Amino acid sequence: MNEQRRAYWRLLDLAEDYLRFAERTAHDEPPTGTDLPSHSSTTTSSDFDYVVDDDAERETQPAVGHAIPAGADDGGERGARSRRLSMLEERVRVCTRCALHEGRFNAVPGVGVLDPLVMVIGEGPGADEDRRGLPFVGRAGQFLDKWLEAIGLSRSSNAYITNIVKCRPPENRDPRPAESDACMPYLREQIELVRPQAILTVGRIASGILIGTGAGIGSLRGRTYYYNGIPLVPTYHPSGVLRNPELKRPVWEDLKRLNAMLDRGSVG
Ligand code: URA
Repeated sequence: MNEQRRAYWRLLDLAEDYLRFAERTAHDEPPTGTDLPSHSSTTTSSDFDYVVDDDAERETQPAVGHAIPAGADDGGERGARSRRLSMLEERVRVCTRCALHEGRFNAVPGVGVLDPLVMVIGEGPGADEDRRGLPFVGRAGQFLDKWLEAIGLSRSSNAYITNIVKCRPPENRDPRPAESDACMPYLREQIELVRPQAILTVGRIASGILIGTGAGIGSLRGRTYYYNGIPLVPTYHPSGVLRNPELKRPVWEDLKRLNAMLDRGSVG
């Protein structure tokens, strides 16, 4: 009987915990009407400039790419890594390694801090990201920011966000193997320079490429993998969850597992 009671309370705890996450992200579920905004705006506080402003037209000035967290020693080894990362971002901005560069307004190298708790890796920029030169700034990106916020992460303080391919595939199609192969050296170097404690891959494409499988995300998620010794948690893509809010629950499970493995004593 006592065991039954304990199980019952545990269930209630879990339900409460999930409801808090669902509430926090509730307003990101797709509107029921047909008038979905083509792009939306978000504003973040901070000394870290990645504010999205709907009135701005296609930016040709690249926004700030990465930062060393405030108060950190930016000289020495970390300063050198930061400079190498800036150079890598510059190379990405002028890259012509695959045909995707032909249709881009801006390449999208990545954004966030050095030595983050988590590096988030998506598939490739969409229209908003192409316009801004920044990853995950459209509707899916705002949703992703809420997920991160729910476990105390943000691109301005303790996360870094990037994609498998740095230029927008036309009509948001999946990147082709030749395109992701051409872009992978950038991502490998980013991981090496950024040195995340853990990696969160969102969606089938990013998860499959880094884990090295063609399996679907539904069967990949729920476990922790390792990429060059770095723990990697795969989850659904925020766009998929916007289309199917039922997926919020497994996402929350994945985020909690990710959160539990972070050593917050050392970063952010
Ligand atoms: N989807 C992605 O996978 N990446 C982005 O940067 C935006 C949307």
